[in-house]
Amino acid sequence: MSEKEREWGKIVLSIKNCTACPLHKTRTHPVPGEGSLNAKVMFIGEAPGRREDETGRPFVGAAGKLLHELLSLAGLRREEVFITNVVKCRPPNNRDPTEEEVEACSKHTKKIIKLVDPEIIVTLGNHSGRYIVEVVGGGEWRGVTRSRGRPLELRIFGAVRKVLPTYHPAAALYNPRLRAKLEEDFRMLKKLITPQEKLSGKRRNLLDFLGKG
Ligand code: URA
Repeated sequence: MSEKEREWGKIVLSIKNCTACPLHKTRTHPVPGEGSLNAKVMFIGEAPGRREDETGRPFVGAAGKLLHELLSLAGLRREEVFITNVVKCRPPNNRDPTEEEVEACSKHTKKIIKLVDPEIIVTLGNHSGRYIVEVVGGGEWRGVTRSRGRPLELRIFGAVRKVLPTYHPAAALYNPRLRAKLEEDFRMLKKLITPQEKLSGKRRNLLDFLGKG
C-alpha cells in the first residue's frame, strides 16, 4: 500500500467518525469521494443524494450519468479523475447544504485536495464554486452564472492551481440550455489539461518505445 493510500484510509475513517455537523445523524453512508489519488483533475460537487447515500459513492445517480457523458467530452475516464463533494453526508430530502455544513466538512475537503494535489479543480454548482474560489482560494465569487466557464488561477495551499467553475450536472438534467453550457465548459476543460508529455518534461515518441530514441 502506498503512502497516499494509507493517508486516504485515514481520511475515510475520520469522515466515518465525524460528528462535526448534524448530517451524520440522518445519513445512511458517508460519501468521502473516489477516484485516482494521482488525478490531474478533481471534481467537487455539492452533497450526496439518495443513491449516493445508499451506496457510499459519489455521483452514481442521474446527475452521475450526465457527469460520465461530460467526462468523455473532456477526454477523461471516471477512474482517472477524483470526485468528491463539499458536504460528505446527505442533507435530508436533498435540500441544499448550509454554509455551516460546508464549513464543518471543510477540514475533510482540504485534506482531500492536499492529498490528491490536482492540477485542475472543477467546481460543480454554486456551493462548491463559492467554497473553493472564496474560502480556499481567497478569490471573489460572483455566483455560478457569472463565474462558469471562466478558468481562474488561484493559490491553493501554497501552489497556483487552475479552477474551472461550472454548473451542477443536476441543474442541467431537464434544462437543455444549461446542458449546452456544461458541454462547452467540459470541452474547455480538455484544453486546460496539461498533456502528460509536458508534465514529465520529455516528449516520448515511437522510437523511445522501441528503445531507439
Ligand atoms: N450531487 C452531488 O452534488 N454530489 C453527488 O455525489 C451526487 C449528486
